[in-house]
Amino acid sequence: MEQQIRWGILGLGRIAGVFAEGLKHVPGSTLVACGSRGPQKAEEFGAKWSVPRRHASYAALAADPEVDAIYIATPHPLHRENCLLCLEHGKAVLCEKPFAVNAAEAAEVLAAARRHNLLLMEAMWSRFLPHLVQVRDLIAGGAIGEPRLLQADFAFRAGWNPDGRLLNPQLAGGGLLDVGVYNVNLAHMVFGVPQRVMGTAHLGETGVDEQAGMLLQFAAGRLAVLSCGVRTSTPQEAFIAGTEGRIRIHTPWWRPSRLTVSIPGKGDTEYAPAIVGNGYNYEALEFGRCLRAGLTESPVMPWAESLAVMQTLDALRAQFGLAYPMERRAA
Ligand SMILES: NC(=O)c1ccc[n+]([C@@H]2O[C@H](COP(=O)([O-])OP(=O)(O)OC[C@H]3O[C@@H](n4cnc5c(N)ncnc54)[C@H](OP(=O)(O)O)[C@@H]3O)[C@@H](O)[C@H]2O)c1
Repeated sequence: MEQQIRWGILGLGRIAGVFAEGLKHVPGSTLVACGSRGPQKAEEFGAKWSVPRRHASYAALAADPEVDAIYIATPHPLHRENCLLCLEHGKAVLCEKPFAVNAAEAAEVLAAARRHNLLLMEAMWSRFLPHLVQVRDLIAGGAIGEPRLLQADFAFRAGWNPDGRLLNPQLAGGGLLDVGVYNVNLAHMVFGVPQRVMGTAHLGETGVDEQAGMLLQFAAGRLAVLSCGVRTSTPQEAFIAGTEGRIRIHTPWWRPSRLTVSIPGKGDTEYAPAIVGNGYNYEALEFGRCLRAGLTESPVMPWAESLAVMQTLDALRAQFGLAYPMERRAA
């Protein structure tokens, strides 16, 4: 019989509930525990999602012997310490994007997973969605020839809340780490590690990037043209142009979506892969597969790629002139 995976969720905000809903569609997985900074949200979340083990601290969740895997759903600057806490208690970890605030933190967390020989995966949920699996298959099958140029945008207009995690520098706010990371991750997925990274951003009233434009150059002159933001709304589309044709990933490209493959002279082909659940089940499904197979990393979102994405984000932020308070303190 398949090993049941007993999940815990750490940090009970917005995305925690979305993930709890996704888990309902993952055979062999049960949400058994949740952990909050205090008792109230643990009780409320536990009652809403029928979670039996409700912890009033992250440490208590990490130490729970009835939990196999922990999904970390706290703001970016907490990812490092929350991951380390769970790994030190022998738990497999699925950590929200961005994997950390910067590459140095990411490397520290990866080293801990390596040391403890535990599964650790970045919850870059888009990568696991059927339409992006289809994109990888189409490219690998030569459907558009050699991919040469990728374009992706992801910006939305958030309300003005300087204390919230989107605009607050103390919570590593800004568009790049919140949504730009999706574009950068897609570019890494298609082209690998960039050789040159260029970017410019508008740093708003709170000092974080409200919008940014980025250009990544890869081997053999392949290019990614990306934009992101949290105070303007863009179409949220992506396309990948190759020597023989192109793939359009329809809006919103980073959620469950559909594709159009256009080959000059041969017309268009539409792909609309079927979706089960809310989409967050696919990352959990892959995580479960890896855990049962005794893997420490997923071949779909490998450690080296999570680290390389953080390095690209660091390089972009250096060009934006954006260092977070916790980084300035650490320097
Ligand atoms: N994959 C996706 O589609 C997706 C979508 C949205 C967000 N995310 C990622 O998920 C993470 C959380 O985002 P969210 O939108 O769920 O955030 P949120 O609604 O603000 O929730 C974050 C939770 O983290 C905990 N927390 C611990 N320290 C905190 C602090 N100093 N300030 C605020 N909260 C703190 C709180 O839970 P307790 O009070 O229970 O401890 C809080 O409810 C972010 O890294 C974000 O990038 C991913």
